[in-house]
Amino acid sequence: MATILDFEFEAHTNPIAADDRTALLANPGFGKIFTDHMAVIRYSAEKGWHNARIEPRAPLQIDPACAVLHYAQEIFEGLKAYRLPDGGAALFRPEANAKRFRESARRMAMAELPEEMFLSSIRELVAVDRDWIPEIEGGSLYLRPFMFASEVFLGVKPASEYLYIVLASPAGAYFKGGAPSVTLWVSEDYTRAAPGGTGAAKCGGNYASSLVAQSEAIRNDCDQVVFLDAAESKWVEELGGMNIFFVMDDGSVITPPLGGTILPGITRESLITLARDAGVDVREERYSIDQWEADSKSGKLREAFACGTAAVVTPIGRVRGRTRDFVIGNGGPGILTEKLRTDLVAMQRGEAPDPHNWLQRL
Ligand code: PLP
Ligand code: COI
Repeated sequence: MATILDFEFEAHTNPIAADDRTALLANPGFGKIFTDHMAVIRYSAEKGWHNARIEPRAPLQIDPACAVLHYAQEIFEGLKAYRLPDGGAALFRPEANAKRFRESARRMAMAELPEEMFLSSIRELVAVDRDWIPEIEGGSLYLRPFMFASEVFLGVKPASEYLYIVLASPAGAYFKGGAPSVTLWVSEDYTRAAPGGTGAAKCGGNYASSLVAQSEAIRNDCDQVVFLDAAESKWVEELGGMNIFFVMDDGSVITPPLGGTILPGITRESLITLARDAGVDVREERYSIDQWEADSKSGKLREAFACGTAAVVTPIGRVRGRTRDFVIGNGGPGILTEKLRTDLVAMQRGEAPDPHNWLQRL
């Protein structure tokens, strides 16, 4: 089976006009607008990976018996292309996304896309739609590779056909108004992932099952849900789409350990590295919701923040739940949170040295 595929290119015959594109890029929001093209690769058990194309972004025709519509064999990734100070563009640690995509595929019994194909699909798409990288402050081109079971069959088994697609979506801030800090809702009725389950895979089902808790959060005037572990309903795990960090009064940092029930975030790993590079003591250890409340009230906990590709680094100002309501620090962004955010963003945008070779120029 070939691991390098040449992409066939079919240009959009009616792309969005340059003026309209400029207007869209001035205020893109998150996940609402898309570029002219998409990358597509097909898989079948007989042919392996084949038919790699960059083609006009268009609706798909799907048979109603397509396996993903019934048994949810679907995974995705999220990464960003950034504009560099010299006018070039770069991706941040895309090989980490390629690896996680394979790991998600393995957990969901799907075909594993070779990492070099994942990387070339992204490079090819950004090369074609490069003018769509926003130049506004905080702007980026959010890339959404995903793959689903496309076999037309109602039997319950791993599918033998898959469709892999990459969409590109110009993005500004994930939270409306660039939110200085967010309020979390502690979910007591719902958990996100159980031991042995799919919590460490980036599969659509994890997000589907988190939505009822997210709706509960919104109903209670909170921005996001924070999930506790499924076994004891005690340990803080992560948010619906972000990992979490705690900053203590002695300057040390705690983040929940990866144990199969949380997503191994690339931003999480990058921040652990950046913080340790700066001499901060970072511990990957369990932290309970009761401790979080007690430490926030006593002042032992100074800051908390959430992080992820879409949300970058977002301060957590307040936590609420059926029986809880506490404020972290002064409710706004903390000093270390701001430093880590600034350092990470500078590195992602090529404005700071890159000692770990995290940037891949396009
Ligand atoms: N946790 C969940 C559930 C997520 O969906 C994400 C977003 O991708 C993250 C954490 C953060 O991961 P990353 O930093 O790789 O974007
Ligand atoms: C990301 O940060 O890339 C995510 O996938 C989080 C969310 C948009 C699902």
